[in-house]
Amino acid sequence: MADSFFSWLKRLGGKQEADGVAPHADPQHKAERPMVFVKELSPKSRRHLLRHFLALEDKDRLLRFGSKLSDDMVIRYVENIDFARDTVFGVYDRRLRLLGVGHLAFAPRESSRISGATIKPVVAEFGVSVSAAARGLGVGTKLFLRASMRCRNADVDTLYMHCLSSNKVMMHIAKKAGMDIHRDYGEADAYLKISPANSATVFQEAMEEQAAMLDYIIKANFKALLKWGARVMGIGGKDKGSGGKT
Ligand SMILES: CC(C)(COP(=O)(O)OP(=O)(O)OC[C@H]1O[C@@H](n2cnc3c(N)ncnc32)[C@H](O)[C@@H]1OP(=O)(O)O)[C@@H](O)C(=O)NCCC(=O)NCCS
Repeated sequence: MADSFFSWLKRLGGKQEADGVAPHADPQHKAERPMVFVKELSPKSRRHLLRHFLALEDKDRLLRFGSKLSDDMVIRYVENIDFARDTVFGVYDRRLRLLGVGHLAFAPRESSRISGATIKPVVAEFGVSVSAAARGLGVGTKLFLRASMRCRNADVDTLYMHCLSSNKVMMHIAKKAGMDIHRDYGEADAYLKISPANSATVFQEAMEEQAAMLDYIIKANFKALLKWGARVMGIGGKDKGSGGKT
């Protein structure tokens, strides 16, 4: 019973082959990658988000935001994330630091630079970043897949990413996911078309969120246990980590 539960959890966090998602070309290489759980974040995670974004180097801030945001601008960006309108996904490490963040922003079609690309009322823009030390482990791919699944399930068929065409890593991730890349508005404004939802994608998203929540709770409890153990043993200073709830 417990075995089948954990193998189910592992399947959800591991290799993902949702509809329209091609299997990886090098399964051996990918098999060595750790499990990645993508959790939907709430306003309580702003502190974690800030820490993640402020740690990005200038060149990564440029890729992520389209300009080299100063620390003050990053602070303002995080303060102004509208969690009621948008969806923010995160991947935590075992010390509850955010390794990766994906921000899926929804906007009315008319306000978008690719407004002619869809007849749906809403389009999505996706921005993603992964901490330098955690790259190449599949975190960016999982965030991207989760965001595109959210679009599908929210009946949004057009996903825009800033400077998609010139970002080789993102192009690779999108192609690997079997997505069509459209360039009707020139090279700079490439966008992706998302397939419609079905009952499997809705179920899969719900299961992935449950698994990510469970993973987070286990990590939070383990961290609390370590903290308690250190206090009892009288070792370690004040923990400046990020143990708060999200
Ligand atoms: C783009 C980014 C999010 C990717 O995150 P990541 O966790 O390293 O991504 P993954 O590990 O899931 O996948 C990276 C893939 O790109 C491939 N890759 C790496 N460098 C590449 C390159 N120069 N050209 C093509 N593919 C490349 C990797 O081999 C890997 O593919 P694989 O899974 O088939 O082996 C991360 O590099 C990042 O934060 N960059 C700065 C911000 C940014 O560019 N954001 C995107 C614009 S919004």
